[in-house]
Amino acid sequence: MAENELADPRTSDSNTISRRDVIKSVIAAGAVSSTSYLFRVSKVWGQASAPGAVDRLITLNVNGQDRRVDVMKQETLVMTLRYKLGLTGTKIGCDQAECGACTVLIDDVPYYSCSVFTHTVRDKKIQTIEGLAKPDGTLHPVQQGVIDQQGFQCAFCMSGFVMATVGYLKTNPNPTRTELAHGISGNLCRCQDYDKILTAMMRGAEHLRKA
Ligand code: FES
Ligand code: FES
Repeated sequence: MAENELADPRTSDSNTISRRDVIKSVIAAGAVSSTSYLFRVSKVWGQASAPGAVDRLITLNVNGQDRRVDVMKQETLVMTLRYKLGLTGTKIGCDQAECGACTVLIDDVPYYSCSVFTHTVRDKKIQTIEGLAKPDGTLHPVQQGVIDQQGFQCAFCMSGFVMATVGYLKTNPNPTRTELAHGISGNLCRCQDYDKILTAMMRGAEHLRKA
């Protein structure tokens, strides 16, 4: 697979490495990232990195800004966004491509960021929930739909639903309720507030058409 091709971590050769190992290594790397980058002596998964095997210090375009960040070869995008770039609006629910809480847009297409290796999106535009509102604070129409309808209970799943809806509306700006429900069906709500969520997302679609 080409280095920049989006890959599903669940189907890659890294299957022999547990998610717990990934998380531990991301956290550990935060403490040693600077020196390990300079001297290429970091230990990942208990093995020494091959010298020059991958660039760890990379540039990501996130919410319209270029951000320099030190990432490991098998670090997932959600880890980078939350724990390296401080963009905690993107949530981790299942961390295994099942719930959609981690949904972000990559070149305007919704992806589960828990299942995208950060290195594969270096040349792409990433948008998170933090990048939806205008600089003057005006909410995105879909965010305004949530405000209008009070469409969530605990709201843990909200940013994922909003990003999935924003992405879906780029392909179908005037969906029926059934079409939108199908379009964002990859997102789950543990409070099971689906009817209100869908009403809020439909209101957001209506706002977007008038914007
Ligand atoms: S956290 Fe990514 S799909 Fe659940
Ligand atoms: S509103 Fe609680 S998880 Fe969706």
